[in-house]
Amino acid sequence: MIGIDLVEIERITKLKERFGDKALAKFLAPDEIALAKSDATAAGFYAAKEAVSKALGIGISAQCGFMDIKLYKDAKNAPYFTLSRHLIEAYAITDLALSITHDNGFAIAVAVIEGTKSTRQLWH
Ligand SMILES: CC(C)(COP(=O)(O)OP(=O)(O)OC[C@H]1O[C@@H](n2cnc3c(N)ncnc32)[C@H](O)[C@@H]1OP(=O)(O)O)[C@@H](O)C(=O)NCCC(=O)NCCS
Repeated sequence: MIGIDLVEIERITKLKERFGDKALAKFLAPDEIALAKSDATAAGFYAAKEAVSKALGIGISAQCGFMDIKLYKDAKNAPYFTLSRHLIEAYAITDLALSITHDNGFAIAVAVIEGTKSTRQLWH
């Protein structure tokens, strides 16, 4: 399962102007906010969560809220994520992958989720 999302970095800048310190808390947990040192990184994180929800096929929803997706950085600064246990179990997920890029005012994220339970019929 694959998901992609594009976010304009200025959207984060404006969100911060409007909501101050609470802006990032609308979609990031405190540990994630600590990692999002720039608006570009925060925009990448926003795109990442939307991309993950698209890979699941459900979008950000009652089934999959922003806090059901947790973002991290490894020792080499590569992003990765985990999901709430109910999502891992519902989709029998076996592996997760995430890539983020930003340039020229935009951030893009691509998420790949592997599982043993298909979300749709594969034959015709
Ligand atoms: C990691 C690298 C590919 C990022 O590419 P980039 O064009 O600089 O930047 P992008 O906007 O495409 O990507 C940035 C995002 O990549 C992700 N990223 C960073 N390090 C990563 C890694 N080791 N593996 C995977 N993804 C990584 C992060 O999400 C980062 O976003 P952030 O800065 O907001 O945390 C690049 O920095 C690199 O190869 N560095 C090592 C080589 C190098 O520094 N060469 C310079 C001298 S030639």
